[in-house]
Amino acid sequence: MAIIVDQGKNIFTLHTKNSTYQMKVDELGFLLHTYYGSRIDNTDMSYLIYNMDRGFSGNPYEIGGKDRSYSLDTLPQEYSCFGTGDYRISALRIKNGDGSRGVQLYYDKYILNKGKYSIPDLPAVYADDDESETLEIILKDPYSHVEVHLYYGVLEKNDIITRAVKVVNKGSEKIVVEKAASLSLDWISQDFDWITFYGRHNMERIPQRSAINHGIQAIGSVRGTSSHHYNPFAILCEKGADETKGQCFGISFVYSGEFLMEVEKDQVNQTRLVCGIHPDNFEWNLLPGEEFNSPEAIMTYSPHGFGQLSRNLHETIREHICRGEWKHKRRPVLVNNWEATYFNFTGDQLVEIAKDAAKLGVELFVLDDGWFGKRDNDNSGLGDWYPNEEKLGCSLKELAERILDTGVEFGIWFEPEAISEDSNLYREHPEWVVRIPGRPPALSRNQLVLDFSRKDVQDYIIERMSDILSEVPITYVKWDFNRSICDKFSNELGPEYQGEFAHRYVLGLYRVLEELTTKFPHILFEGCSGGGGRFDPGMLYYTPHIWCSDNTDPIARLTIQYGTSFGYPVSTVGAHVSTVPNHQTRRVTPFSTRAYVAMSGIFGYQLDISKMTEEEKDDIRKQIEIYKNRYDLIQNGHYYRLLPPTSDMCTVWEIAAKDGKEAIITAVYHNVEANPAPVMVQVQGLNESGSYQLELDTVFWEDKLDEKVKNWLLSKLPYGYGEGELISGAALMKGGLVIPPAFQEYQAWQIIIKQC
Ligand code: GLA
Repeated sequence: MAIIVDQGKNIFTLHTKNSTYQMKVDELGFLLHTYYGSRIDNTDMSYLIYNMDRGFSGNPYEIGGKDRSYSLDTLPQEYSCFGTGDYRISALRIKNGDGSRGVQLYYDKYILNKGKYSIPDLPAVYADDDESETLEIILKDPYSHVEVHLYYGVLEKNDIITRAVKVVNKGSEKIVVEKAASLSLDWISQDFDWITFYGRHNMERIPQRSAINHGIQAIGSVRGTSSHHYNPFAILCEKGADETKGQCFGISFVYSGEFLMEVEKDQVNQTRLVCGIHPDNFEWNLLPGEEFNSPEAIMTYSPHGFGQLSRNLHETIREHICRGEWKHKRRPVLVNNWEATYFNFTGDQLVEIAKDAAKLGVELFVLDDGWFGKRDNDNSGLGDWYPNEEKLGCSLKELAERILDTGVEFGIWFEPEAISEDSNLYREHPEWVVRIPGRPPALSRNQLVLDFSRKDVQDYIIERMSDILSEVPITYVKWDFNRSICDKFSNELGPEYQGEFAHRYVLGLYRVLEELTTKFPHILFEGCSGGGGRFDPGMLYYTPHIWCSDNTDPIARLTIQYGTSFGYPVSTVGAHVSTVPNHQTRRVTPFSTRAYVAMSGIFGYQLDISKMTEEEKDDIRKQIEIYKNRYDLIQNGHYYRLLPPTSDMCTVWEIAAKDGKEAIITAVYHNVEANPAPVMVQVQGLNESGSYQLELDTVFWEDKLDEKVKNWLLSKLPYGYGEGELISGAALMKGGLVIPPAFQEYQAWQIIIKQC
């Protein structure tokens, strides 16, 4: 049993493999949060709570006259409420029928269930009954009759506890939910740092670590999507925590829309974290009897640093968020024509690329933007999902068949949520566009947004896409969205309901994705929003991988993929090899470096294969072969960050088989230095008593290097690479491994470690 209820004392203790989480109903009926941290027994942890009479921290009416030390303003609470005496950041804010803002929740009852709860119309972690348990705690406000259901899903083996909330109006008047966070988390006394992941288009998810000081710090999005700018994921950790040591807590929000993650250190040094839908664009009306369901937040805990925390999330996202036929199937190696041709292509040209690609082992051709409507640049055509047969030189079906004949599958790009002013759809349905009446809407990439909160719009897109997907032999869809949403307003919603727009939009998006992925289960859907602008667990529930960034430069990708790896597994990261100079940074890097970096993701190409030299084509053949051979290990192994891209010279990461018998280390020199110091790493995840042989991947340079350089390099390979030179797992993990030096700028190495 992962969930222990002490009925006499009203204590709820949730255990996972390495963590314990505890709540207790106190003598007044408030649900206090008493512990979250390393696994302990069922001790009542409320002994840590120390109340004192603190000026200006008032007392609930029922005890105020007797005990001035009891205050909601300082007590650690399970679900904090706005307006009734807790002045810190809060999880729940309700506007009552009389216009007042106040809610106070008292414990009512609990329900225990096998298995994991689900949430109507929203993505959530799923798990079998023997892998998970659910605790539902019901709280009530006796004055307004608001009822709050707190859900806890415990995946013991994964060190995961999920949270979600349902607010029910049991009163007789309409109320407005102004804020209903998915999670509120209090720590009685801890001095934390937090790591958040900021970025921008073409440079997503850069880690930033800062101290939690007094005051409020927050990350979030009011852009309609989770955004490039802050990922809905953060880590709270003790001061000295690093990859392998220290306590840390991960919070990941399973939602693709606007979010807010706030953290506050209060007057007595307690820390509170609140995470949920961003309240700035949110108001939810509840008539008597109606209910609101929040999205889900995932919590994980590691007593041994960020590495373990990431691996907890990797496993959970891979096994309990991603769904469908493609969950475990090897994803095809693809070539996408975007950076090869942009909008400028003909059907014949595409077939040529596919032909060359097929010969080299590529398995899928993806036709990107520009195949529909009047779409020869990004100023027009969005919304007109009818093939441009003149440009393609035939029907879309014929083109797909021609591509299939070359030996690869056919995939296609859509941006279903977008609409151009210069489109037939806009001319027919101007009312389907998101804009505030009487006010010109802001343009972004010269495009507008379709009102996905409307059922008729959702139905139209489902129908239009279904027609194409049924008629044309398509096995892959890239679902893009290329702007942030402002001017929020829907013609379908009355004035009092406009505050529901942003969330209704996300619900609409999820409905369309659910319908299409159910209707076309064999199609692999790739998520995308100008690269990684909607890279979150919510999208991953529908699209098992996401184009990680529009930046394909492998050196920039070191940072992007490093940051992404904190919260997401390799199997969700779309990564392609592109040409040089790179189109985003103009950087020139070796072909093998581009391939090795893309291999730590869902691998593909984004370049014109038909224009490549025979030598380059030969390299592509080798790259694909290597990727296919190492696929299982790379996608399902344990991921370790060994040296960050902020280190002096080299970024290094490792993927080890779960049984520790094999590992791949990838090292990329992001900097060159004269007379360099050796790059040393400590390998992880091996069997200490095992004996290992090292092998350096030489396939990309063996036959190209000048003999002198080659001999120098081979002479520099330390012990372990020669035949019969075995090293113990303990030595590699505790002593370390020297990475071979670089013989060129941006050199990359892949080292295979095998137990003999
Ligand atoms: C976005 C995507 C790119 C490409 C273009 C097409 O930027 O992230 O990969 O599909 O749109 O317009």
